[in-house]
Amino acid sequence: MKISPSLLSADFSRLYDEAASVEPLVDRFHWDVMDGHFVPNLTFGPPVVNALRRRLRIPFDIHLMIDDPLDYAPQFDVQPDDSIIIHVESRSDPSETLRAIAERGARCGITLRPGTPLQTIEPYLDRISMLLVMSVEPGFGGQAFLPDAVPRIRGLRELIGNRAIDIAVDGGVNPETIGSVADAGADIAVAGSAIFRADDRESAIRALREAAA
Ligand code: DX5
Ligand code: ZN
Repeated sequence: MKISPSLLSADFSRLYDEAASVEPLVDRFHWDVMDGHFVPNLTFGPPVVNALRRRLRIPFDIHLMIDDPLDYAPQFDVQPDDSIIIHVESRSDPSETLRAIAERGARCGITLRPGTPLQTIEPYLDRISMLLVMSVEPGFGGQAFLPDAVPRIRGLRELIGNRAIDIAVDGGVNPETIGSVADAGADIAVAGSAIFRADDRESAIRALREAAA
């Protein structure tokens, strides 16, 4: 199980230092881009993420919780193993947006709200290599894990078949919930508050890895 810290629960006044402090211990960084329309919260966009991209080394997963991902996806400076992940419920046409992401040279990702039927992403499975399963309603860190995410991961594993797609799970992941997520077939665990609200981040990350094993 790869561990991907979400910086949403980190200290925004020291975003680089917060990410750098855990970089040697994790596999990917998860950046929650919110526009205050698609979700009732407003975080950061390309200027901030691109500045961090220049200073950090491991891959980025850019989670676009915005109405118009087609307008903004091309503004991210990405490396080949970075992914840009769009919500299937957004106003942009998913096919067009995935094409724009691929042209940018990043991995394409799709995600869906907890209540969105799994079938909605089926038409895009041959265009993505990252599938993000929301286990909370998007918008905020520190929410409780929605248990229905576990059967949804299993269902998506079925839909994916033998395609080379990483399943990431996002929201309320902690040592108590990560085991069921791993069993269901997830490859990447996104964790925000479980890491950045912990007293000792190194042991929090170790606890996640041990609970996932
Ligand atoms: C929620 C974000 C998640 C969130 C995860 O809208 O997409 O990435 O930051 O935070 P925790 O792990 O605290 O639920
Ligand atoms: Zn996220």
